[in-house]
Amino acid sequence: MSESEVRAIAAGDTYELRRALLRPHQRLNEMTWPADEHPDTLHAGAYRGERLVGIGTIHRQPMPGSAETEAWRIRGLAVEFGHRGYGLGAMLLGRLIEHATTGGGRMVWAHATAASFGFFEHHGFRRRGEPFELPESGPHYVVYAEIVR
Ligand SMILES: CC(C)(COP(=O)(O)OP(=O)(O)OC[C@H]1O[C@@H](n2cnc3c(N)ncnc32)[C@H](O)[C@@H]1OP(=O)(O)O)[C@@H](O)C(=O)NCCC(=O)NCCS
Repeated sequence: MSESEVRAIAAGDTYELRRALLRPHQRLNEMTWPADEHPDTLHAGAYRGERLVGIGTIHRQPMPGSAETEAWRIRGLAVEFGHRGYGLGAMLLGRLIEHATTGGGRMVWAHATAASFGFFEHHGFRRRGEPFELPESGPHYVVYAEIVR
């Protein structure tokens, strides 16, 4: 097994895995998201050797229905199928939360798929509200965790 490492990457480096793992019904040129190029945004990549096998993004965004102003949203967190279960998702999540913490964040949140909810719960996230449907990607939950300093 090659060594695993998480590094900061450019927004453009996330697009292929975003599409392959999260949005197979969309085109590559639809993989750009509004906060991708914001200077505070972090894109993290998980590498096995020199191969990028996992991605995740975090940027400032209030959580709907919450008054917390120092909130950061996790988006596009995904690990390639053959590389799941080796701790890469946890490494990526840890790097993203560390970035929000350094940026003064007091809360992180995400839209979790029904399948990934257990991953977030395992890392101390709680569910907020009822599940909702996102077109073509099924039921999702808003999940959040307070950042404890
Ligand atoms: C969710 C995802 C990123 C997890 O990545 P991963 O590399 O397999 O996760 P890890 O190996 O780091 O798992 C870390 C811990 O979470 C647990 N875990 C992982 N997925 C889980 C799940 N679905 N339910 C419950 N626990 C889970 C693991 O057992 C592990 O526990 P441990 O610390 O006791 O060993 C991956 O399954 C994925 O890419 N899913 C599809 C994309 C997606 O739904 N992303 C989230 C929406 S943004």
